[in-house]
Amino acid sequence: MGAEDYLPDDPGSLAALRTAAEGCHGCDLYRAATQTVFGEGPPDARIVMIGEQPGDVEDRAGEPFVGPAGRLLDRAITEAGLQRSDIYVTNAVKHFKFVPPERGKRRIHKTPNRAEIVACRPWLVQELAVLRPSVLVVLGASAAKALLGAKFKVTESRGQLLPWPDAADRPEDFPAEPSSLVATIHPSAVLRSDDREAMFRGLVADLRVAAEAL
Ligand code: URA
Ligand code: SF4
Repeated sequence: MGAEDYLPDDPGSLAALRTAAEGCHGCDLYRAATQTVFGEGPPDARIVMIGEQPGDVEDRAGEPFVGPAGRLLDRAITEAGLQRSDIYVTNAVKHFKFVPPERGKRRIHKTPNRAEIVACRPWLVQELAVLRPSVLVVLGASAAKALLGAKFKVTESRGQLLPWPDAADRPEDFPAEPSSLVATIHPSAVLRSDDREAMFRGLVADLRVAAEAL
């Protein structure tokens, strides 16, 4: 199990990666989902943001962060003084995982498990190797797990400009290119919160740290 078997022979361009990922069967999530939702944004983006996995809207559209969480993220990006069109946005897992609807049409998001995150990781690692961003923004626990290991705690380390992990501390396939990292909450956590306004302000403050690091 894993995406490695589906990587293109020459993973040197985002276009080649995207095309190859369309046919990925590296874990079972492709079976129920509509399509692979690959990262999107300019190849020369200096900031890369990593979410968890596509949601219901993204699964249908084939693009990351275009549903409710995406709209909230767009607002936070703008308030932090950045522009979404300058940012490459992607996910730790490229297929939508959901619970089949009991009634109605809306499928309920299900958090990807460790095995799925690990299986999908080669796509993320290759995206980062091609993009070589200056700053990487990790949105929530699943992205942190994919990139920084199970021990990393977003709640403890959020909103700080963190260095690229040393060779000894990073997973061996982690790109060697240095970027700075900023971890923050996932925009969906704002949508689920009882105090959306405070959570939103916290997200914006963390994204400002990324903006100032450029
Ligand atoms: N949540 C994510 O993590 N990614 C998306 O693309 C949409 C919602
Ligand atoms: Fe491949 Fe990732 Fe989709 Fe699993 S979730 S099939 S590893 S692209």
